[in-house]
Amino acid sequence: MDEYGLESEERILSVLGRMEVDAAAGSFWNVPRTTAEFLFALASMPEVKKVLEIGTSNGYSGIFLSSALSHKEGLLYTVESHRGRFEKAAENFVAANLKKYVEQIYGHAPEVFLEGGPLAGERDFDLAFIDATKNEYGGYLGEVLPRMRPGGLIVADNCVSHRGELDGFFEMVERLAVEGKAKNTLLKVDNGLMLVSKVPDSGGPVTRGW
Ligand SMILES: C[S@@+](CC[C@H](N)C(=O)[O-])C[C@H]1O[C@@H](n2cnc3c(N)ncnc32)[C@H](O)[C@@H]1O
Repeated sequence: MDEYGLESEERILSVLGRMEVDAAAGSFWNVPRTTAEFLFALASMPEVKKVLEIGTSNGYSGIFLSSALSHKEGLLYTVESHRGRFEKAAENFVAANLKKYVEQIYGHAPEVFLEGGPLAGERDFDLAFIDATKNEYGGYLGEVLPRMRPGGLIVADNCVSHRGELDGFFEMVERLAVEGKAKNTLLKVDNGLMLVSKVPDSGGPVTRGW
């Protein structure tokens, strides 16, 4: 039981249920439930403790990610550039009792990673989820990949539904594969998830290949 007298899972499910109703009425662009559950499964892997999300919106996917991390004292860093959605997410993380597993960053990616930005010093992410402005995905990937731990996995949403806006991103992903820096797989689930795993610099075994 938590301090509100609810089992924490029950509490999270009730917040998610309300958010699914809100999503039909508001402009939150949340991931579909299957994608959210896939993210939960990835974040539940024992070696995944430090997770990055670009595009918090009102925190729907963030609740799945942070609830997986809450079982092992992990931390989700999630970036949102819209003040209203950032604040809504803060309310939802509190309501789900997950606030202590979430570091919310109000700002614009990729600038948040640059010198003096709130994420400038952060490295060794185990998992990253990209779900923001489609024609900026290449810029996000350029900043995120060097900050992943070797073998770390990046998941990018909308790689089928918004394929037309993602030429630069797809070219970059293919180039990284040719250069042996990152492997990729396009998973045709929901809106299309591109999985990009960072190949270790050492030339040693890839800890997670796709
Ligand atoms: C598709 S929604 C994210 C949905 C969220 N992942 C979920 O499933 O609940 C995209 C969000 O990214 C935010 N966004 C767009 N470009 C951004 C950027 N460059 N930096 C930070 N946030 C950005 C938008 O304001 C919007 O709230």
